Amino acid sequence: MKTNSNNELMEKIVSLCKRRGFVFQGSEIYGGFAGTYDWGHFGVALKNNLKQSWWKKFVDARQDIYGIDAAIIMNPKVWVASGHVAGFSDRTPEGKQFNVMFKTEVGAGEEAVVSYLRPETAQGMFVNFKNVVDAYHPKLPFGLAQIGKAFRNEIAPRDFLFRLREFEQMEIEYFVRASEWEKYFEYWKGEMLEWMEEAGIDMAKVHDLEVPEEERAHYSKQTIDFEFDYPFGKKELFGLAYRTDFDLKNHKLEYLDEESGEKIVPHVIEPTFGVDRAVLAILLSAYAEDEKKEETRVYLRLKSHIAPVIACISPLLKNKPELVEYANTKVFAPLKVEFGRVMWDDNGNIGKRYRRQDEIGTPFCIVVDFDTLKDDTVTVRDRDTAEQERVKVADLKKYIREKI
Ligand code: GAP
Repeated sequence: MKTNSNNELMEKIVSLCKRRGFVFQGSEIYGGFAGTYDWGHFGVALKNNLKQSWWKKFVDARQDIYGIDAAIIMNPKVWVASGHVAGFSDRTPEGKQFNVMFKTEVGAGEEAVVSYLRPETAQGMFVNFKNVVDAYHPKLPFGLAQIGKAFRNEIAPRDFLFRLREFEQMEIEYFVRASEWEKYFEYWKGEMLEWMEEAGIDMAKVHDLEVPEEERAHYSKQTIDFEFDYPFGKKELFGLAYRTDFDLKNHKLEYLDEESGEKIVPHVIEPTFGVDRAVLAILLSAYAEDEKKEETRVYLRLKSHIAPVIACISPLLKNKPELVEYANTKVFAPLKVEFGRVMWDDNGNIGKRYRRQDEIGTPFCIVVDFDTLKDDTVTVRDRDTAEQERVKVADLKKYIREKI
């Protein structure tokens, strides 16, 4: 396996993302727009798989977490109460405080009010606390989960997907009794680490950092940053914060314990995950170069539930109708129905197709050749080992299912 210098590696990831259609510079034909990126077909697929795996683990597989999808533009009073209008700022080069929320005007003429694009998804969950309690009558502890865009007018956007002005978050607000916050803080630390590993983040590069008081957000009494060894340094990947009762109190919200009749303000543990940083960490963890043959082979060792494509189907030659017909009807169509993330590729020679699929991170390439027409077997090539084996067409679904 080849090792790259840090700069080389970052350049290679950015260029692979563009070449293969994962991520493009935002507004590129107009010279770009700092801190914005556009996602292409394979990038969207990877990001969707990642978000789905998060939702499955933290919402679908549990009974104590409810999903929500709140508006991005909220009543500006929300951001006053949350402390963001007063304190969500960074220092500009001249040393002045600069609020990083994006302002926008809502409504026309005299009616217009200034509001903000949300800088975190969290507030959409806090302000719905009463709605959720009234609708589902959850018992403490319980949580809300949301995936969505957040916006920050970062002074210095940089490092590809690391520091953006428009990005996505996956956040959980977990409501607990004040006396139990430490227990659930530890619990969520474990859950976060587990998900990172499942997603294919190289855990040898993840470190947790206890954030000192002077660097914590205005709402937090304890924060752990999970840092990742990016090529540009050890920097924040995700965070876990104890937000106390700060947000619910400021929004004047409380919880009635239906059994004891007691009114309390629950405390909040907040595991937060940046989607774009997760993608970057996964790409950096998966990127590999193999120098065994005369030319370097580049491939992404993505986990199969995260990979944009599970299998790619090719006829050996695209000008042989009998191969195309067989590949299409007997291999591609049934696998597409079964797995969805299945791709047809008959461009260029087989070597080129393998190289393309390696860079997309496709675990299996399946080729229909002249032997297939005689014995109903196909070549299945493994992305990581580049080894090939013959598999019966009738066994393909089972073969793939077992391997993933
Ligand atoms: N609700 C808590 C909160 O927003 P944060 O640490 O400011 O906390 C949470 O942001 C996560 O969002 C970060 O851990 C990071 O993954 C991601 N994130 C924050 N700012 C970002 C930016 N400018 N570009 C990309 N991702 C960002």
